[in-house]
Amino acid sequence: MGKIKDADAVGEVGNLNCGDVMKIYLKVEKNKIKDVKVETFGCIAAIVTSSLLTEMAKGKTLDEAYKITNKDISEGLELPNIKLHCSVLAASALRKAIDDYRKKFKV
Ligand code: FES
Repeated sequence: MGKIKDADAVGEVGNLNCGDVMKIYLKVEKNKIKDVKVETFGCIAAIVTSSLLTEMAKGKTLDEAYKITNKDISEGLELPNIKLHCSVLAASALRKAIDDYRKKFKV
């Protein structure tokens, strides 16, 4: 959890239904995610899934990390259906951060 001050890329998403917001910061080195932090202003399911996502994404290449789905993140959590959209938020924020990185550095 937290912020990377000199992040290479940032991805921010919000959920219009619940108003929750998630911001992911990436530090990338040699096409791999060297560090990833997240600020989550939302429900407990959003906080848990975003925290899990950072653990899953760290050390992966950008391509590998881009393929992480909300199903990967929520697997084993037994989230109720009404909370599945919270894990979608985490996966979307990561993809947005990777898109931001690719756009900035043209990779
Ligand atoms: Fe909004 Fe979970 S209720 S992200």
